[in-house]
Amino acid sequence: MINEKLYDYVITAAGRVNLIGEHIDYCGGKVFPAALSFRNAVYVRANGTDKINLSWTTLPDKVSLNINQLQNYKNLKYGNYQAGSAYLWQRAGHKVIGCDMLHDCTVPFGSGLSSSAAIEVSTIAALATIAGEKINPVEIALIAQKAEREYAGVNCGIMDQYASACGKKDCAMLLDCSNLNCKYVPLNLKEYSLIITNSNKPHDLIESKYNERRAETEEGLAILKKHLKINCLAELSKTHLEKHKNILPSTIYNRVKHVVEECERVALAEKAMESGDIILLGKLLNASHKSLKELYEVTGYELDSLAYAAQNHPSCVGSRMTGGGFGGCTVSLVKSTDVENFKNYVKNEYNKATGYNADFYDASVAEGITVTRINK
Ligand code: GLA
Repeated sequence: MINEKLYDYVITAAGRVNLIGEHIDYCGGKVFPAALSFRNAVYVRANGTDKINLSWTTLPDKVSLNINQLQNYKNLKYGNYQAGSAYLWQRAGHKVIGCDMLHDCTVPFGSGLSSSAAIEVSTIAALATIAGEKINPVEIALIAQKAEREYAGVNCGIMDQYASACGKKDCAMLLDCSNLNCKYVPLNLKEYSLIITNSNKPHDLIESKYNERRAETEEGLAILKKHLKINCLAELSKTHLEKHKNILPSTIYNRVKHVVEECERVALAEKAMESGDIILLGKLLNASHKSLKELYEVTGYELDSLAYAAQNHPSCVGSRMTGGGFGGCTVSLVKSTDVENFKNYVKNEYNKATGYNADFYDASVAEGITVTRINK
């Protein structure tokens, strides 16, 4: 039980699911995430010291961070995301004051639903709030991304932190990662439901593999830039890619091909969503998974088994991995009247194939940052 009365504010930020547009945010592409009702909540009060005292509803641990030495906590088992976020926020010129923070996270860890972004974004928003600053969600997202990159060592794009900070209830977000223009698109799936399924395969080594993929796309861009006037891979057309196929090493060509085609799929998904063509949207999800498996190689046996089990169910129009990959969750579009049957079928098939048990989530699409004053 949380004793709310001990705190001045509760600040929350969202986990996210990505409908389509995977591994292209760091290539300047458009992505299509939505913020979830799974969130990290931070109960916070100023404590008049130079310490940020962290506690968790899910852990017995307590950690104290000195606000004058925030650069020193990279190796903490728990509290490193909070420390990194506070450090980068401070380094950006913001005031960090001593406080007590209780973290209550409902985003499943290691699930590819961005628990880390939710923690980073809510930590910064909490620090800003108790220092009396007005919340600027885009600035917070950008600094949270820096914390993930510089402090946690994952060279991530902006999608997760942006969705976590700037999400809107019942809307998907068509985010152009080259300029951060964001169009909110009402998530109207007609007679279909969005089902998130956790493979429960822990995504080990994700950091190193993620950074490797990112480096490969950068290598591809550097080679192509010698011949073409492009600023990012999302600007590359399919025709130009095919023309320059022979100057790219084959693995790099595959990675770049995924980026180019995934960008095309996002554009089609936008149209499908606007015209209510959920069948087409489902086909795009399936094609995205195939490309992430064959060209980008970020799926793995468990995610493939989970996506295929879903795709084989007659009431499912499409299913794919969501997030960074190498484990984590899938997202599926399923006829609302058949959801229970779908879950049973997928659970069985997935367990037969992998020995893992799948979990299904009933998350809804929610706001990004929320700030609530507890004590007046
Ligand atoms: C992780 C990263 C994001 C994005 C996705 C893949 O979630 O944090 O920036 O690259 O992987 O789309």
